Amino acid sequence: MISEKMEQMLNDQYNKEVFSAHLYLSMCSYFLDRDLDGFANYFSIQAKEELQHAEKQFDYVHEVDGKITIGAIDAPDSKFNSIIDCFEQTLAHEKLITKSIYGLVRQALDEGDFATHTFLQWFITEQVEEESSVKALLKKLEMIGDNSSALYLLNDELLKRVLVA
Ligand SMILES: [Fe+2]
Ligand SMILES: [Fe+2]
Repeated sequence: MISEKMEQMLNDQYNKEVFSAHLYLSMCSYFLDRDLDGFANYFSIQAKEELQHAEKQFDYVHEVDGKITIGAIDAPDSKFNSIIDCFEQTLAHEKLITKSIYGLVRQALDEGDFATHTFLQWFITEQVEEESSVKALLKKLEMIGDNSSALYLLNDELLKRVLVA
């Protein structure tokens, strides 16, 4: 059983994960349009991962006798200035999500809701990985600058990314 407040916060988080999926699909679309299939693949998988996060939260809330209410999802940006702009926005967004997860953890601890606290540990680890992998890609992009051969190689590398369940 979870509290109404915890249920509400997990609902909000669920909707944020779905928004994240839409944001990354929007970036996928930007890259497909620019014929950068590797970058498009990276964001397509990123979007699928976000839907997996949402699904985990959906299942958990129902497992503890709560209910998920699907809310209106804001439209993400559809215009991006550059490749780096996409990754900078991704990093900024992931930082917001990390903050949001930390808020959930704090609430779970305040309530002595140790089940939800344990459930959230997976997301804490996931956010560390998310931020660190985006930062690493940003560094690579800075090194690449306007070297199109290097960009071609990175695009090829990102084409190899696969979805891990
Ligand atoms: Fe997520
Ligand atoms: Fe994420």
